[in-house]
Amino acid sequence: MPKLTIRDLTLDGKRVFMRVDFNVPIKNGRITDDTRIQATLPTLRYALDRGATVIMASHLGRPKGKVNPEMSLEPVARRLQELLGQTVAFAPDSAGEIARQAVERAVQEGTRLILLENLRFHPEEEKNDQAFAAGLASLAELYVNDAFGSSHRAHASVEAVARLLPSPAAGLLMEKEVAYLGDALASPARPFVAVLGGAKVSDKLEVIENLLGKVDVLLIGGAMAYTFLKAQDLPVGRSLVENDLLDAARRILRHASERGLRVELPTDHVVAGKIEPGVAAFVLEVGDQSIGDRMGLDIGPETSARYAGIVAGAKTVVWNGPMGVFETPPFDAGTNAVAKAVAATGGVTIIGGGDSIAAVTRAGVADKITHISTGGGASLELLGGRTLPGVEVLAEKGA
Ligand code: 3PG
Ligand code: MG
Repeated sequence: MPKLTIRDLTLDGKRVFMRVDFNVPIKNGRITDDTRIQATLPTLRYALDRGATVIMASHLGRPKGKVNPEMSLEPVARRLQELLGQTVAFAPDSAGEIARQAVERAVQEGTRLILLENLRFHPEEEKNDQAFAAGLASLAELYVNDAFGSSHRAHASVEAVARLLPSPAAGLLMEKEVAYLGDALASPARPFVAVLGGAKVSDKLEVIENLLGKVDVLLIGGAMAYTFLKAQDLPVGRSLVENDLLDAARRILRHASERGLRVELPTDHVVAGKIEPGVAAFVLEVGDQSIGDRMGLDIGPETSARYAGIVAGAKTVVWNGPMGVFETPPFDAGTNAVAKAVAATGGVTIIGGGDSIAAVTRAGVADKITHISTGGGASLELLGGRTLPGVEVLAEKGA
């Protein structure tokens, strides 16, 4: 049954607790990519136009339950104020008296947008703690979740708090993401190709298992490929490997071959002794012992061409995670080639995860992608057939 959305709520004069995903990259106090902030603006404008006061809450980074000024959301409050041309009050804490007073003061002053400090400065957030959630709920009368990118986390601001306020509803971004990713997968046009990259297999293990039964071809690149290569006893030098996942990687490959599913791994790669712009880099066949103690840092040209060819023939493509250390040239070639190939297919293309988004943006092809999701892990879990705790907990329409 479809979920309640913000359009089903009566907002006038109400205080709305809105979970947003403002987990944006920040370097030296500057936001380097505000995609997630921009993506939430329609929901914020909708609520403001209908007379609500919005108390926004988000995490930023992984401060592990401790205050870390480098992960403060204050720069986000300033950016929001610029983008909306409206005062945004910043509460220097998300809990307790400081949060309460900041909200009260803002309301008295007629400020209708309040951003709370990083929720993850409190360990209770990630523990889905009831008392912490009750504190968040006490700040508002309604709950809206627009944080699609965080909805795979059963955290206090995503899950527990939604049980404490009436009619928990999806924001406009959340609604769009869930509809898009759900529809794309309900009956995908085939061939359906998934491209997975990035550093860690551990982040994607379940997703890989779930996706395997749904896609026609799974292409693997990035550092996570090395766990699969090592699992087959191939020499990988000092490439990043998750040694505790070698068995899991073997199991995935065995399942795939038993069921006749195609999982493709790199057959050549770019190796170097260190990760540095312009460092001497060499293309080697995968399996070549002369890798020595060097690292594999990108897929090679043969693999790039092969992956691009497979993507070109697809009718549905899902891509998450770079093919190499793409922020450091020359290790960006494989990721750029995949970005261009995905953009050039005539089919439905879905990209999730900050690095893949940055790659299509840098390749200048972002406008050719059917749907760019603000969620990395969340989009993969949804695509892999899992339900998201932050979506599950929302009220159903007509209930
Ligand atoms: C993300 O950027 O993937 C989301 O904001 C969730 O962050 P997390 O992976 O630290 O939970
Ligand atoms: Mg993540």
